[in-house]
Amino acid sequence: MTHLCKETLVAVVNGQLPGPAIEVREGDSVAINVINKSRYNITIHWHGVKQRLNCWADGVPMITQCPILPNHSMTYRFNVTDQEGTLWWHSHVPSLRATVHGALIIRPRHGASYPFVKPHREIPIIVGEWWQKDLVQLNKELKDGTYYYNATFAATINGKLGDVHNCSGKIEDGYVLEVEPGKTYLLRIINAALTSEYYFKIAGHRFTVVAADANYVNHYTTDVIAVAPGETVDALLVADASPAGSYYMVAQDIQPPITDYTEPKLIARGTVRYQSSNNGGEDEAPSSSDVPMAPEMPGLHDRMVSFYFHGNLTSQHRRSPVPTHVDDHLFVTLSAGSVCRHGQSCKRRGNIQESIILVTMNDVSFLLPTAAAATPLLESHYYYGQNKTATGDGVDLHALPDRPRKTFNFTDTALIPHGPKEERLEPTERAATARRFRHGAAVEVVFQSTAVMQSHYNPMHLHGHDMFVLAQGLGNYDAARDVARYNLVDPPVKNTVLVPSLGWAAVRFIADNPGVWYLHCHYEYHASMGMTTVFIVDDGTTVDSTLPPPPADLPKCGHNNNLMPNELNPHVGKSDVSYINIV
Ligand code: C2O
Repeated sequence: MTHLCKETLVAVVNGQLPGPAIEVREGDSVAINVINKSRYNITIHWHGVKQRLNCWADGVPMITQCPILPNHSMTYRFNVTDQEGTLWWHSHVPSLRATVHGALIIRPRHGASYPFVKPHREIPIIVGEWWQKDLVQLNKELKDGTYYYNATFAATINGKLGDVHNCSGKIEDGYVLEVEPGKTYLLRIINAALTSEYYFKIAGHRFTVVAADANYVNHYTTDVIAVAPGETVDALLVADASPAGSYYMVAQDIQPPITDYTEPKLIARGTVRYQSSNNGGEDEAPSSSDVPMAPEMPGLHDRMVSFYFHGNLTSQHRRSPVPTHVDDHLFVTLSAGSVCRHGQSCKRRGNIQESIILVTMNDVSFLLPTAAAATPLLESHYYYGQNKTATGDGVDLHALPDRPRKTFNFTDTALIPHGPKEERLEPTERAATARRFRHGAAVEVVFQSTAVMQSHYNPMHLHGHDMFVLAQGLGNYDAARDVARYNLVDPPVKNTVLVPSLGWAAVRFIADNPGVWYLHCHYEYHASMGMTTVFIVDDGTTVDSTLPPPPADLPKCGHNNNLMPNELNPHVGKSDVSYINIV
């Protein structure tokens, strides 16, 4: 594809960017045949689908399955039950998701209806990013610490950059939404971008937010929507502006309030265009006098609009009760650090010849062991985990600590500029961490962001479970003060919780879906640099709570003849089956 005067080779699905929307009803069984004609190893993750008793279809390479090799295919089968609204699908070979993604729309089953007025039309709005870089290469550079933050990328709405961008006078196309005066539209807004949270506005209009992450929320009226990578927001738009003309829709990134370096502003612009009553309007080009009205956006560094947007969400029609007791408490710091390339000591502070900058959860940065390159963790867990006995070479996973090893004033802004204080906190380690839960355990996780990773934000995404978001706050979490603020009445239910920058968020979920589930930051740099862990949920005691065997056509890890330039090449490592030890 060519944008900004440069032709870039991208992987897309069915020749489209975004890829095709998958439209189903609650209760449907879905089968999707993925044929890999790209030169990369691929898996597809059905982001937010609960995958009850179906971890095999979760689509995370070497966690739940061997990747689909080039010229191979796989059929993903899953049911969509107990969830309605907007989800999405994307490649989980991480960076490729910038172009390999699409909407997954779950409507109420036949005979059921939306808990809001029936919209005239439903419109997916996918906020994304156009990268002029080989995305698999990007992923590799992030992992090995050689990325220089020098790639060119731009924001998009439904794959289009819009008329704020031009290159040598050639103006980029923008997404156009044609509306009829007086009609109501359901916008299904998805943030599929790799790096940024976005504010979304349409000049002259307000939204009624009705759902987030495929869970209904109490209706909430606003003129601005904040959506972080991995999140979705469903909002009604009434075409009631006057005059019935043209209005810009804008997605603008939200930048850290304080940072060590400056980032380019990302902005995508589309248009809402009213059809005039005397013609169909659809194909009519806008006249030159028809200059759209532009919305006034929040400030580039204004994170508070997002903080309040997220804080205002409350749930409606919850499908399960909010857990009021907790079996397992975790307090997880989200931070940054570095490891030496060779040996124990090295120059740090971004000296990339000697050290690799990483991001961490409780001071460990995730990296799969080489032994896991032959057998996905879920397979090891299924055949050799739990109380089953087996012999073989173990995959040593390290227990994710319940609490950070380093305690300090986590949100001390004096840590933001690189200095001796920050340097003392920098040494970290790389390991594959996991936390195992008894079937049915009520789990509370408090995510605390730290100033060591500057004022970056963290959209934390849990596979296979929705989370109740009980509270969020700025500064350091303090149980003595903050537990009293938990919303146990109508907390929003999310698959991705936005941890505010220099702040915290507290969630609960019931670990009742057996399998091996990824938990990671959906901000791509963080996902690739190790802000990841694995939650292993044990089987229960009944057939209904036990993970069934893998589908017969689950891909096998095979030889790939160097076609995949990333580190999870199944060629590497031993080929015997391993079992999981958590040490
Ligand atoms: Cu949308 Cu594991 O990701």
